[in-house]
Amino acid sequence: MNAPLPVEVLKQHLIDPEICIRCNTCEETCPVDAITHDSNNYVVDPEICNGCMACVPPCPTGSIDNWRLVVRAEAYSVQDQLGWEELPQEKPLPVDAAAGEEGGQTMPAPQAESGLAQTAAVTVAPPGAAVPPWSAAHPYVNLYTHKTPITATVVGNYRVTGADTESDIHHIVLDFGEQPFPVLEGQSIGILPPGVDAQGRPHHARQYSLASPRDGERAGYNNLSLTVKRVTQDHGGAAAHGVCSNYLCDLAKNDTVQVIGPFGHTFLMPNHPQANLIMICTGTGSAPMRAMTERSRRLIGTADIGKLMLFFGARTERELPYFGPLMKLPRDFIDINLALSREPGQPKRYVQDLIRERAAHVRGLLADRNTCIYVCGLKGMEVGVLDALRDVVVQSGEDWSILHDALRREGRLHFETY
Ligand code: A2P
Repeated sequence: MNAPLPVEVLKQHLIDPEICIRCNTCEETCPVDAITHDSNNYVVDPEICNGCMACVPPCPTGSIDNWRLVVRAEAYSVQDQLGWEELPQEKPLPVDAAAGEEGGQTMPAPQAESGLAQTAAVTVAPPGAAVPPWSAAHPYVNLYTHKTPITATVVGNYRVTGADTESDIHHIVLDFGEQPFPVLEGQSIGILPPGVDAQGRPHHARQYSLASPRDGERAGYNNLSLTVKRVTQDHGGAAAHGVCSNYLCDLAKNDTVQVIGPFGHTFLMPNHPQANLIMICTGTGSAPMRAMTERSRRLIGTADIGKLMLFFGARTERELPYFGPLMKLPRDFIDINLALSREPGQPKRYVQDLIRERAAHVRGLLADRNTCIYVCGLKGMEVGVLDALRDVVVQSGEDWSILHDALRREGRLHFETY
């Protein structure tokens, strides 16, 4: 027998280095530790990746969703990928490989739309939806990249937490002048801080959610705002200097900033009349909630807006960004629930505690298919919030897993945590 040996074809998972903002989300999400990085790139190890797709929905830029058909023996190695500045062109497969099963190709069946199983499947359902709500507006994404950033001008920068507190959180307004930069509430942008890192490479972009609605921080202006916390400690409490957050918090009016994006195509608000919002956040995770709330507030009197319910966690009132303006919002417009964890003389409370306390109300909103839920802030609250929502639903004798699946499928439950 002299038939050609089968050529095994791999649908190789790759990350586009030109669009990736090095936010580490994919590496954190990958259930099999197939993703790694150096100071240049985030890359996927073809020996480990099983194409489970868990990393794809959380990626803010879509840079993760790149695939090349390659002969398995010639797959791009981790070392190859770490050196890339851009993705390689698609290479034609050898004729016998491209001929399919009959030509001896052994290409395993894809496990998901564009993924490919190499080993046993590890399926991890992400907690939130991979699609936006049905009535969301269509977002523009990746209009500006590392190679083609846009320059914005700082038109405002002020602190939105008590001056005597540890939480130095700034409201920063960037103006784009005549240049197009269309955005939606829930989207984010990347900021390129000037200078180089310890390896002498330009700093990679840092991602920030918009705090302003689609029609501008100031309605009708081509500007947007960010909520930025000055980072002086790492997650473990050790002293650390946040490169981009310190750069942003120290900006003066008329300074210019290099921006990339916009990013995000799922964490978007519904636009149909009577859509309800349950917003759950901690600290600077309030940015998209501010954007959505302000969008809704500007629609008062012009459209039939639904109910807004906010759960907002902060250490103290004085460390809760935008406390003053938030308290001025009409109570018949938004139902505000503040969870303060370090307010002297008060018991420590987290957002999930308040969700349980307001169970009847939350349950009522969850029973309405017009309700969308948004969670943004500390990674640690993800599990706590899901548990609280489950408890609220189970208490009323309903099946949380059925509702959770529906919320994901219908683009009604969204997480943005860090
Ligand atoms: P804590 O006082 O325990 O740190 P930060 O100011 O660090 O951004 O945090 C914002 C708020 O989120 C704080 O009140 C903080 O409480 C709270 N928090 C910390 N961990 C969690 C968690 N796992 N779930 C919900 N809230 C949390």
